[in-house]
Amino acid sequence: MDPIRVLVTGAAGQIAYSLLYSVAKGDVFGPNQPLSLHLLDIAPMMGVLEGVVMELNDCAFPLLREIIPTADEKVAFSDIDAAFLVGAMPRREGMERKDLLAANVKIFKSQGKALDQYAKKDVKVLVVGNPANTNAFICSKYAPSIPKENFSAMTRLDQNRATSQIANLLKVNVSDVANVIIWGNHSSTQYPDVSHAIVSINGTVTGVPDAVKDDGYLQGEFITTVQKRGAAVIAARKLSSAMSAAKAACDHMRDWFAGVSEGRFVSMGVISDGSYGTPKDVIYSFPVTIGPNKKWNIVQGLQVNDFSQEKMKITGDELLQEKEEALSVCQD
Ligand code: NAD
Ligand code: LMR
Repeated sequence: MDPIRVLVTGAAGQIAYSLLYSVAKGDVFGPNQPLSLHLLDIAPMMGVLEGVVMELNDCAFPLLREIIPTADEKVAFSDIDAAFLVGAMPRREGMERKDLLAANVKIFKSQGKALDQYAKKDVKVLVVGNPANTNAFICSKYAPSIPKENFSAMTRLDQNRATSQIANLLKVNVSDVANVIIWGNHSSTQYPDVSHAIVSINGTVTGVPDAVKDDGYLQGEFITTVQKRGAAVIAARKLSSAMSAAKAACDHMRDWFAGVSEGRFVSMGVISDGSYGTPKDVIYSFPVTIGPNKKWNIVQGLQVNDFSQEKMKITGDELLQEKEEALSVCQD
């Protein structure tokens, strides 16, 4: 089998340190798929990146056929099949993710152009660097030769956080909880929604709201806990989440490449077609199904009540505002 070419940007950073281990081990593209890893970081980080390359070599991963560390976008983006765009400034305590917009959005303009010029046209792009949804929008805008469906932003960490909160509450395994939805932006306006989620308790499958029996919690503390979890990790660690972010990035890309099973859906920030009254042409997180052909489809026909509609609008409005700001930064 030919190696798949996988780019990780921010390769000398925190998230990449966990992410590279899982990707090189075969957790994402499968246990039989050889890999060529393209590692991009900025020039001052090349020394650190050299150390990461040493460690990757020392792991002696059987699937890892080639490692290309570079500060050159042309080298990094050439012929890639998949891109984890992680490299960007993380927020510090007291900042909102959108405070990073001006600093980070230009990185994604430049990388969008590099994708357009050098990557395979069917490349699958996952943006992790914040503000992830808007960065993904900008990246896609500057890569017009690549289908918009090939760009996504990560809300899988939020989905995993929400799933874990519910599993802990109901004292079940995380694998017994499915179909938790994250709507909208990967920010404190996101709407974690369990109205369509299911849980298996002692072999019987029920809706999560029926199992929890506490709408006050599900419409209150549950939502704010997930919305503020990134900030809580920063407050505790003095660094933004890394291990859990890397795990979520792996989950996202694995499901994109391998598909998700019948009746299950996952949340991804994808280009909005206006489904459920959301704003069109922003990268909005929706529940999606993914077939074996690496194509996602927004789940249709879910009942959305007034409470949900209102929450979905708040986060959609924020995305419209971020998009406007990002476009003005990119014109400079
Ligand atoms: P980090 O500071 O440890 O690493 C970032 C790396 O990116 C650094 O090595 C830096 O040199 C590099 N970098 C900066 N500009 C670059 C460029 N133009 N090209 C390539 N590399 C570049 O940060 P981290 O903790 O790994 O976080 C990275 C990003 O991921 C942050 O923006 C953070 O907010 C975001 N994040 C997103 C999620 C999510 O759920 N979407 C979760 C956690 C973190
Ligand atoms: C997270 O959700 O942990 C990341 O987006 C980092 C942050 O700034 O919250």
